[in-house]
Amino acid sequence: MKLFIDSGNLKDIESLVPLGIIDGITTNPSLLAKEPGDYRDILKKICQLVKGPTSAEVTATDYEGMVRQGRDLAGIDPHIVVKVPFTKEGVKACKALSSEGKKVNVTLCFSPTQALIAAKVGANYISPFVGRLDDIATSGMHLVKEIVEIYRAYNFKTEVLVASVRHPIHIVEAARMGADICTCPATVIEAMFKHPLTDIGLEKFLKDWEKAQAVKA
Ligand code: E4P
Repeated sequence: MKLFIDSGNLKDIESLVPLGIIDGITTNPSLLAKEPGDYRDILKKICQLVKGPTSAEVTATDYEGMVRQGRDLAGIDPHIVVKVPFTKEGVKACKALSSEGKKVNVTLCFSPTQALIAAKVGANYISPFVGRLDDIATSGMHLVKEIVEIYRAYNFKTEVLVASVRHPIHIVEAARMGADICTCPATVIEAMFKHPLTDIGLEKFLKDWEKAQAVKA
C-alpha cells in the first residue's frame, strides 16, 4: 500500500521524505490556506521534494472553471494530480481532464455510488473520507471495503486513496482491505513508528552490550 502525506507544509514533507516511505502528497484548499506564500510555489516545491503524485484541488465549482483551473494546476509540474470535488460539474470536469491525459483525483467521496461514477469517468484516484464519516457515526472503513469490492469486480483502474485518516488503525484496516493508498497527516505517519517495546528493547540491548564491553576491558 502506498503512503501519501496529507499536508501542504514543507517542513512536514521535508522531515518525512528522507525516510523513503512516502509515495505522494495530497493537499486541499484548507491545508494550503494555512501555509504562507504563493500556492503555486508551494506546490512546485512539494513536487520537487516528493517526485510523486501531488494532488492540488480546484476551487471553481462550475465545469468550465474547474477545467480551466485543472489545466493551470497541471501546468505547474508533471507530478500534479488535479483534484475535483464529487459534484455533477466535477464529474464532467474529471471526464474532460482525463481525456486530455491529465491525472484526476475525485475528492469528497462519501458513498460507493459516487466511487462507481468516478471510476466510469476515468478518475485515477477516488478519495473516500473515512474520518469525516466516522465523525457522523457512520463507518468510514466500511465505505472503503465496498469501493475496493466494486473496483475489483469490474477491474477498474481507479486507485482507492483513503483520505481523512485520523489514526493508525485506519491505516491498518485500509491495508488489510487492499486499498491502494492511505493519505495521512504527518502526526499519524509519525505514530506508525512508535512502540514502547521497541524503545525498551533497544535500551536493554545497548545496556547489556556496554556492560559486557566493560567486563572484557
Ligand atoms: C485529502 O485528500 C483530504 O483532503 C483530507 O484527507 C481531508 O482530511 P480531514 O477530513 O481531516 O480534513
